[in-house]
Amino acid sequence: MHSHSAQQEQAQPGIVWIKLAVLYLVVGVAIGIGMGASQDFTLRPIHAHVNLLGWATLAISGLIYTVFPQTGTTRLARIHFWLLNLALPLMMGSLAYVLLTGDVQILPALVIAEISAAVSILAMTANIFLNLQNRKETAAAGMAPDVSPRGA
Ligand code: HEM
Repeated sequence: MHSHSAQQEQAQPGIVWIKLAVLYLVVGVAIGIGMGASQDFTLRPIHAHVNLLGWATLAISGLIYTVFPQTGTTRLARIHFWLLNLALPLMMGSLAYVLLTGDVQILPALVIAEISAAVSILAMTANIFLNLQNRKETAAAGMAPDVSPRGA
């Protein structure tokens, strides 16, 4: 796989989301197995959030942006992508640190990461409401071929 044109890249905005999602699944499952094996469930919230915000949310976002590419290449989609993917490692890292050490000095980083993740979800919500149109509206706006018979 090489020399993709920018156009092809743009047509598949969900791919990077799905690739990151499976990486989160590997980490989440590894933490789950580690908890089970050690019977130490300290990192349970990390396990749940890596799996649900990492794997599930990223994968579903990637599928939405693939099925509806008009939502995947917008400015709001880019804000969603960068805010969430920068916030999540910081959020998981700082929360793991607090859980493992009990040291709350790092809490401001955790709060910033959590707010950023939440804002990224608002960006996605705005993106979907502003840019996800049904087929009729899209056709009416001249953005898709109108396949209805014209009686020509
Ligand atoms: C091989 C894969 C997995 C293993 C070995 C695993 C293992 C575990 C373990 C040991 C716990 C703690 C149970 C307890 O405290 O009694 C747990 C909790 C949990 N897991 Fe998993 N898990 C796996 C995959 C997943 C996936 C894919 C998801 C979500 C997409 C998930 C979501 C959760 C949630 C939401 C909790 C509850 C967290 C909480 O109570 O705070 N897990 N898992």
